[in-house]
Amino acid sequence: MMKLIIPALILALIFSLSYSKTISILIGGSLDGWKEIADDFCKQTGIKVDVVQGPPSTDGREIMYSISLLTKTKGFDIVYLDVVWLGKFASASWLTPISNFVDPLKYFKENNLAESSFLASLYKDTFYTVPIKADAGILYYRKDLLEKYGYNVPQTWEELKNIALKIKEEERKQGNIIEGFVFQGKQYEGLVCDFYEVLRGMGYELIGQKEGKFVVKIKEDELEKVLQFFRSLIEEGVSPQSVVNYEEEESRIVFQQGKAVFARNWPYAIKMLAEDENMKDKFGVSVLPGKNPTLGGWALAVSKYSPNQKEAWMFIDFVVKNGLKTLFLKRGDIPTKIDLFQDPAINQKLPYYDVIMESIDFSKPRTIHPLYPRISNIIQIYVSGVLAGKIKPKEAAKKMINEIQKIISL
Ligand code: GLC
Repeated sequence: MMKLIIPALILALIFSLSYSKTISILIGGSLDGWKEIADDFCKQTGIKVDVVQGPPSTDGREIMYSISLLTKTKGFDIVYLDVVWLGKFASASWLTPISNFVDPLKYFKENNLAESSFLASLYKDTFYTVPIKADAGILYYRKDLLEKYGYNVPQTWEELKNIALKIKEEERKQGNIIEGFVFQGKQYEGLVCDFYEVLRGMGYELIGQKEGKFVVKIKEDELEKVLQFFRSLIEEGVSPQSVVNYEEEESRIVFQQGKAVFARNWPYAIKMLAEDENMKDKFGVSVLPGKNPTLGGWALAVSKYSPNQKEAWMFIDFVVKNGLKTLFLKRGDIPTKIDLFQDPAINQKLPYYDVIMESIDFSKPRTIHPLYPRISNIIQIYVSGVLAGKIKPKEAAKKMINEIQKIISL
């Protein structure tokens, strides 16, 4: 008897040692959806996933991942990256190319991932990430109020400003304390997304390439106009002063509580608004004025320093195949997997699918550059300084162009 038990015990030990591995990932804000996926994955594979809760803003998580990757130690096995981090992370060689695990293009196609999403996983001819969440800025508006005052959905930023102000003033006369337009005005990456949308919507471009070199494309007086537009939102009372502290969630909550005529946000809020009895029939969404939404999105990658390369990839593959529906149902995240939109559990809960797709089609990436975080930092400082009235648009435009030019010439 003992003769049989001992080998069985040894086998069980070997099995549990190899499968009691724990891998880790850092996720922002709420862990909704990710916990469920990690549990399902553990049930199927025996591999535990430690889902660590990080700060809600993309900037906070970028710093946490960067610090852990800079130490070149295990840190997080899986990186959940904002599209905008790719230049920095890939050029620092912090990520394992997808081709170490599968043939990337074949994999993306077999799993029906949208081309617009997986193209954002490419850095200098190498695919480093697998896209999970598709994102592009969109406009939320109060359908009922636009109808009440006989306005169409604004097509330009100036139009939005004028309509927002008129409706706000009329409503206030009737005792309804409402704001005109809310957006992401805090000094962080979200503000940069909003800034690119206004700038491009007005027909300008910030940075371009000339003879293979990066150059600032916008002229000082043009940038001054863009910055003046932001300042005027607060000066003229279109947006509340407090917008300088708003991230995505603050803007969503104000709009969802019926306290704003317009809001700029990402599509995740559609599901929440559509499930809110008080709001579901009152709101509409559309492509942003100027039709130049910022491309956002999130993707998974294996950290170069993970000792668990295979297990980390297994988890990524599991999320792609089994997790995207959960992420939509629990978080409102727009899946990158196209065939999921045929799924009634998704499309019945996702009104305005066409607007989301159109916005993703129109969307443009922020500047792709290894020093993007520094460029973003300069944009954040000056746009938020102008919004808060701490620096005049003219002076800010001059300094911003100078400082960005210095960074991109490095
Ligand atoms: C969204 C976008 C991301 C962007 C961030 C800014 O999460 O998907 O790309 O950087 O918002 O707050």
